[in-house]
Amino acid sequence: MLQVNLSNILPFVSADYQAALTAPLQTAHDQLQNATGAGSDFTGWVHLPRDYDRDEFARIKAAAKKIQSDSDALVVIGIGGSYLGARGVIECLCSANYNLKKKSTPNIYFTGNGLSSDQLSEVVELLEGRDFSINVISKSGTTTEPAVAFRFFRQLLEDKYGKEEAAKRIYATTDRARGALKTLADENGYETFVVPDDVGGRYSVLTAVGLLPIAVAGVDIDAMMSGAEAMMEQCAVAELAANPAWQYAAARYDLYNGGKKIEILAAYDPNFRFMCEWWKQLYGESEGKELKGLFPASVEFTADLHSMGQYIQQGERTLIETVVRMGASATKNVVPFDEVNGDGLNFLAGKDMDFINTQAMNGTLLAHVEGGVPNIIINMEKCDAYGLGELVYFFEYACGISGYLLNVNPFDQPGVEAYKKNMFALLGKPGYEALREELLAKLNG
Ligand code: PA5
Repeated sequence: MLQVNLSNILPFVSADYQAALTAPLQTAHDQLQNATGAGSDFTGWVHLPRDYDRDEFARIKAAAKKIQSDSDALVVIGIGGSYLGARGVIECLCSANYNLKKKSTPNIYFTGNGLSSDQLSEVVELLEGRDFSINVISKSGTTTEPAVAFRFFRQLLEDKYGKEEAAKRIYATTDRARGALKTLADENGYETFVVPDDVGGRYSVLTAVGLLPIAVAGVDIDAMMSGAEAMMEQCAVAELAANPAWQYAAARYDLYNGGKKIEILAAYDPNFRFMCEWWKQLYGESEGKELKGLFPASVEFTADLHSMGQYIQQGERTLIETVVRMGASATKNVVPFDEVNGDGLNFLAGKDMDFINTQAMNGTLLAHVEGGVPNIIINMEKCDAYGLGELVYFFEYACGISGYLLNVNPFDQPGVEAYKKNMFALLGKPGYEALREELLAKLNG
């Protein structure tokens, strides 16, 4: 079971902060469990690992099998909460180099997560001569980036297979009943999967949003849901000593109140990079409002110890560091002996890479704490599908609790509309004429 180690924050937290936070934690917990807090319409994820739709789950597995059997590649179109979780899990469990590996499962290309023309062309090029399918994921169905990308890839698919066969290769994950994508899917006979009404994008990785691409990559999604369910039960216990999400939320809340402004999530494995991206959206969108919230950042160790390490050790003391320790590696690599020993590293000969990485972790921990950066350690028992299911639910639950402790609605994101309004106006969307004039005047000085 995942475990939170708080011994390296002790010099930085206020005395008895846990006791002082017990009542607010209980209130936040009750609000999540009973759907009585701000944004309670979006707490469907709280009991999802127990209550998920078994029929749809079976359809996800069947669709994944079909895609594995008829496609060399799956194009996954989505952005933000409709993208990051799937990529995080796939890279973490199957490698950031998944597409380059020898394997029996299809390549997975994530697109529609930006507006880069060259990125789009690159995916088109990579698909040349390949059988492929599309999973388009958008709760609203009208988000610009994925909707634009879907136009290109749908056309490519229809040109390759004809409209009828293409329709059998398009899987739409969207609202149960409403929206542009749902309408298009129904009109064209695409198989559809549901983003539940009561689950917002950034909390949706354990729905079809994340599960279909994850299953196509060959990950055991039954094990993932079991891990998430076990963590759901753990997080339902209203007791600080037994509830890792309470422990994490209370620690970061007290550190924030003590003047810390930035939380860096770190892991010692490059495959964790997109889990960090997923976490950043989860915490950034949930807490960053009403001029509040820790700014979520991330680093990849040990690589970033050679770049960001300087700032972490000696820059402004507004940081906290949360390190995910992922457990033992799947492989064993022992450092070879070198006769010449020009690099002076023969003292490492015969030592396993995991051992060396662990000593780097321990050395860094001591240095950063000594330098004034409190460290929260999250110990995963094992980085497999079950363990990642636990981790995903743990972060989600702690995020909901954290939002309520901060007294914000952790399930809305009103701030993301500002750029969209301006972009639509500048692109000439009907209805935005006045704003367009105003913005053009500003841009032209
Ligand atoms: O967390 C969120 O709500 C957002 O990141 C959305 O998931 C993202 O904007 C994509 O929205 P949609 O799924 O409607 O295309």
